[in-house]
Order: sequence, then C-alpha cells, then structure tokens
Amino acid sequence: MSQVVLSEIHGRVGLIRINRPEAMNALNDAVVSGIAAAVDAFEADENIGCIVLTGNEKAFAAGADISVMKQAEFDYMHAYKTDFITARWERIKTARKPVIAAVAGYALGGGCEFAMMCDMIYAADNAKFGQPEVKIGTLPGAGGTQRLPRAIGKAKAMDMCLTGRLMDATEAEQAGLVARIYPAEQLLEETLKAAQTIAGFSLPVLMMTKEAVNRAFESSLNEGLLFERRVFHASFGLEDQKEGMNAFAEKRKAVFKNR
Ligand code: HXC
Repeated sequence: MSQVVLSEIHGRVGLIRINRPEAMNALNDAVVSGIAAAVDAFEADENIGCIVLTGNEKAFAAGADISVMKQAEFDYMHAYKTDFITARWERIKTARKPVIAAVAGYALGGGCEFAMMCDMIYAADNAKFGQPEVKIGTLPGAGGTQRLPRAIGKAKAMDMCLTGRLMDATEAEQAGLVARIYPAEQLLEETLKAAQTIAGFSLPVLMMTKEAVNRAFESSLNEGLLFERRVFHASFGLEDQKEGMNAFAEKRKAVFKNR
C-alpha cells in the first residue's frame, strides 16, 4: 500500500505531501494522522524552521472522505464519541513553527479548512476553494464557518457556505484568503523558496511573530497590542536580536543561532 502522507526535508524546510491521488486527496484517518505525525516530527526537529503542506497538481484535498462519512454506522453517537475530526485534525493549528499551505487544484470542504488552519496559503493559478458541504447534506465542521468569514468577510463566506460555489485563485487572493498566486508548475518551487527564506530567520522570533499575529484574531485590539509589546520586549533577551542588529551595522549577513 502506498503511503498516504509523504514527508521530505529541503534544507531547513519540512515538506508534507498528501498522497491519495486516486481519491482527490480526500482526508481519511490515515491521512490526518500522517499529517499530524509529520508535524510532530518537524516541530521536534531543531533543524527545521518552516513547514509546507501540499497536495498534488489536481487537488490539495477535496474534503473529508465521503465514502467513510456516508456509512450507516457513522451516526451522531459515533461522531460524538470519537470526537470526529477534532483531535489530530487540529495538529496543524497547534504547530508553533510557521506552516504554509501550497494549494493547487481543489481545496474543498475539509481541504479548504485544512488550508485555512495553516498560517498562510500560496495558491497555484488553477486552485479552487470551496465549502460545498451544503450539497451533501452537512456543513463545514472543521472551522469553515469560523475561519472563512474571518478571512474573506461575512458576505462572501455566507455566499460560499450557503451556495457551495467554488472560488478561483484570483478571487481568493482579492478576497484575502490567499497570500500569493503562482503558475501551477512553479507553485512548489516558489513556496519552498519562500519557506527557505523564512526558515533562515531566527526561529524564536518567527514563533513569537506568529503567536502575536494570531493574537489579532483571539483578543481585543488593546489586549493584542499589549501581548505584542510584551513579546517585542522579550525579543531583546535573544542573542539573535543582537546578532541581527550588529550584522546590519557591520553590513554583513546575520548568522542566527535560534536563541
Ligand atoms: C471521497 C472523493 C472525494 C471526497 C473526490 N473523491 N472527492 N472520495 N471523499 N471528498 C473521489 C471520487 O469519488 C472519485 O473516485 C475520485 O476521487 C475522483 O473524483 P471525481 O469526482 O471523479 O473527479 P472530478 O469529476 O474531476 O471532480 C472533482 C471534485 C469532485 C470537484 C473535487 O470529486 C467533488 O465534488 N468531490 C467532493 C467535494 C466535497 O463535497 N467535499 C466536501 C466533503 S465533506 P472514483 O472511485 O469514483 O474514481 C467535508 C466535511 C468537512 O469535507 C467537515 C468536517 C471535516
């Protein structure tokens, strides 16, 4: 049996590929556990500074696996008792290192929700995003009704969730869901390049920055600003802060030690 999740190391970047091409990368237990295990490993590895999650050229992931959810025994009690999707699904969200989703083709349902759990989305020009659950008798249950409005506003999020329509890469970029668009054949290479740049910076600074930006969604402006100020002050305790500023003054490239 082929591995449904592949992980590779490119310099200081950990790459995770969803690999179920025969099912448009539909997310079943094996895929979700595989992604979570890969995130665990990259988080524990001092030599990794950034993580990239991707699929293939046709699909990032076309959603949770419908062939599993349609089974008669997959009822309310089963979903509730097994805490369907919660535990391992959210491992991407709890990663402290930056995570980029590189999305080509379909990112639908749980696939779109998975991409939105990443810190940012780089899209191929053939990417299509959507929350089409309404068409199959359910609703976005992995964050779609919450993260989509935060990313693109209520009007478009409501439109997408209630009609199940798909959004192409250009619309997604204009709406604020996507950070960058590349021609499909360049997506992975360009994403890895950007990830390599990120991973070259001081890891604690990246982690503090990510934590501070995420606070913008979890708190009032004043609380967020206070958190930012405290973390900013804390950055003066880093060797890397002195190194970064000395390197600038000495007109040389900084050599960060990630401490
Ligand atoms: C299981 C899936 C799948 C899915 C595609 N496949 N999506 N299997 N779960 N979510 C399978 C198809 O059954 C088919 O298998 C093969 O992948 C290729 O798909 P096709 O439909 O033949 O391809 P195409 O005509 O190109 O259409 C692509 C598509 C369409 C537009 C992506 O497959 C589609 O609409 N998929 C479902 C999208 C969706 O509803 N996602 C939301 C799921 S619910 P065979 O064996 O026939 O070749 C969800 C809930 C989230 O995500 C909330 C909690 C997680």
